[in-house]
Amino acid sequence: MTMAGSVTAAGIDVEKIREDFPVLKQTIHGKPLVYFDSAATAQKPFAVIDAIRKFHEVDCANIHRGVHELSQRSTAAYEETRSKARRFLNARNNSEIIFVRGTTEGINLVVSSWGRRNVREGDEIIISAMEHHSNIVPWQMLCEERSAKLRVIPMNDRGELILEEYEKLLNPRTRMVAFGHVSNALGTINPARQIIQMAHRAGALTLVDGAQAAPHMNIDVQALDSDFYTFSGHKVFGPTGIGVLHGKMRLLNAMPPYQGGGDMIRTVTFEKTTYNDLPYKFEAGTPNIAGGIGLGAALDYMTGIGLDKIAAYEHELLLYGTEALSKIPGLRLIGTAREKAAVLSFVIDGIHPHDIGTVLDRQGIAVRTGHHCAQPVMDWFHVPATTRASLAFYNTAAEIDALVAGLHKVKEVFG
Ligand code: ALA
Repeated sequence: MTMAGSVTAAGIDVEKIREDFPVLKQTIHGKPLVYFDSAATAQKPFAVIDAIRKFHEVDCANIHRGVHELSQRSTAAYEETRSKARRFLNARNNSEIIFVRGTTEGINLVVSSWGRRNVREGDEIIISAMEHHSNIVPWQMLCEERSAKLRVIPMNDRGELILEEYEKLLNPRTRMVAFGHVSNALGTINPARQIIQMAHRAGALTLVDGAQAAPHMNIDVQALDSDFYTFSGHKVFGPTGIGVLHGKMRLLNAMPPYQGGGDMIRTVTFEKTTYNDLPYKFEAGTPNIAGGIGLGAALDYMTGIGLDKIAAYEHELLLYGTEALSKIPGLRLIGTAREKAAVLSFVIDGIHPHDIGTVLDRQGIAVRTGHHCAQPVMDWFHVPATTRASLAFYNTAAEIDALVAGLHKVKEVFG
């Protein structure tokens, strides 16, 4: 990789960025921490930690409910994040931004509200072979309830969706195509725009699981023309328990509420309740206010660096890592799509991923091992599990070198 000082060719000053992440400055088992599990949860910069702390120290109050100063301040800070999320996704309107607990809840909201209203016996839902469980199980539950059919876009040996097969699955009964923008287990970047256009031509709607895309690339829901797009705060360097669902206004307006309670109502009598306008119709109960404010700081942090720079730098890391890992005898990369985010999933002949993960941990290297909540992907590749190194813009080529050294150590121990 080419670097001038700590500034990379992509224009990212990694050493400066690393100063913003306190968690990275520690040793694990006597070795400097190498954090390669950002796809599970990303680390948080001071900007996020400080924003959450400031909320609790200075502004703490419930939102949308008080005329007093603290409530006004808290409401303004929380609602500011809605504007930031709108800009982050290039959505048209703040009313299209629904706060949820995370991607899983975003999908479940659409399944429960849109799905129950619109999916009938004999209808079809299309997902893909590389989905996370959170974009499989809710649709399966809906299909069982409605006697609808779940159909699956297959993939090739690289872990790329086969679009010719997808075309064959589309038909007038297709109601929804729900797919991951980026696969958490393989790193594949799916051709989202094309998948959406094909669905629309068949008269179907689309939901994009953006959990693994939002941390790595510019998202533009208007250019994509996605009907629903959802992502999690904790994967974009914000806190857990907060995320965003974007939906097109006319669809959200036509959907019934997801949960009942405070804030989602306009009037309540024992005879009848009328519902609040968007986005509040979908936001019952006191939300994760601190999380929302932290998410705003995280989105600012990412846009401050620049999503295009992040994508370019991580691509450099991916190329470097792919080449370095490919030289290790007996190592097989799982997921070699031509369009890939910085995820290196692999198996090593004769060594169980959990053993690999345990030995790497002793070297201070944090990776995820297991099925990555994508068991059908493991079945497809005939592996029980993989070891996954998932990277972010705070990682370095030197850390990839440490991973390679750690894997040689694994081979010594188990070889
Ligand atoms: N879905 C998260 C991952 O891929 C938890 O690790």
